[in-house]
Amino acid sequence: VELSRYSQLIEETLSEFSRTLPQSPEGLYEPMRYTLANGGKRMRPLLVLAGAGLFTRKVEPALPAALGIELFHNFTLLHDDIMDQAPLRRGKPSVYKNWNTNIAILSGDAMYTEAFRMLAQSPREVLREVLAIFTKASLEVCEGQQLDIDFESRGNVTIPGYLHMISLKTAVLLAAALEIGALCGGAPAEEAKKLYTFGLQVGIAFQLQDDILDVFAASEKFGKTAGGDIVANKKTFLLLKALELSDANTRLELQRWLAEPPSRAEEKVAAVKAIYDKLGIREAAEAEMWKHYNEGIAALGSVSAAAEGKMVLKQFADQLMVREH
Ligand code: IPE
Ligand code: IPE
Ligand code: MG
Ligand code: MG
Ligand code: MG
Repeated sequence: VELSRYSQLIEETLSEFSRTLPQSPEGLYEPMRYTLANGGKRMRPLLVLAGAGLFTRKVEPALPAALGIELFHNFTLLHDDIMDQAPLRRGKPSVYKNWNTNIAILSGDAMYTEAFRMLAQSPREVLREVLAIFTKASLEVCEGQQLDIDFESRGNVTIPGYLHMISLKTAVLLAAALEIGALCGGAPAEEAKKLYTFGLQVGIAFQLQDDILDVFAASEKFGKTAGGDIVANKKTFLLLKALELSDANTRLELQRWLAEPPSRAEEKVAAVKAIYDKLGIREAAEAEMWKHYNEGIAALGSVSAAAEGKMVLKQFADQLMVREH
């Protein structure tokens, strides 16, 4: 019930934002409208409002931060799709495909700028702290994205290294969304910090699920090009675990596929997937995902707030673990 009230607030705020964007230059603003209109799960703004909702009925003061964090997230996707050469996003051509790379860079930059403008409209009493948390997370996302790209061409990535990388590129933003929301809702700093920990662990679980879906999702619902991580030699948990669990022959076979030129993409995806199936990699990745989910739930349990509010967040986390896109 609360989540649907929050969703409605978010959709209203986002459409109002799109409606008041300038018309020109069209090459700058049209891709922003296109991106925001294509939906997405709106997970981060929901976390902002649910974080606030733990401490107050009146979540409206957290709305600018909710909008700002969703804008920031969408900015990262525009640039991420260039970096990952991903042609499809939310079932439609990604911005750099539909227009071109320069357009995706610049409209991304504009969304990033708007994100800060929105965050700056958070309540005075918490503004400094909100901006400190947000700018820290923003820089960490850049660090995570750089590591993700570095890892593509590295052969010595470890599972702890991977977990560190996904904490930065993905989890810190979910964590910051919750902490910022809580502060906007009047939470004491220590309680807001516990929510950060909840968000960090659920965020790690979320990216593990994203990596699982990249290999195993039913393409129509997924909205992205499945197998992209395999083609790009992304050092996901799945690949690292497969290298760890395989015997000498299978490891050689995997390493041959890693060295394969991109022209044999389809064959490569099928072959690597077959190795994953043989080794039970999906199950291993899901076990790791649930481990982080459980750590997150434990952190949530320690927050001093009403049980109903915490239940909303738990249900939200539950939904993320079983999603199909
Ligand atoms: C995609 O995030 C990028 C990752 C961090 C895995 P989401 O899966 O939240 O994307 P949308 O906004 O719902 O499309
Ligand atoms: C995305 O990770 C992380 C950020 C956008 C910061 P991915 O590259 O796995 O996300 P998708 O799969 O393209 O959504
Ligand atoms: Mg990426
Ligand atoms: Mg990507
Ligand atoms: Mg992915």
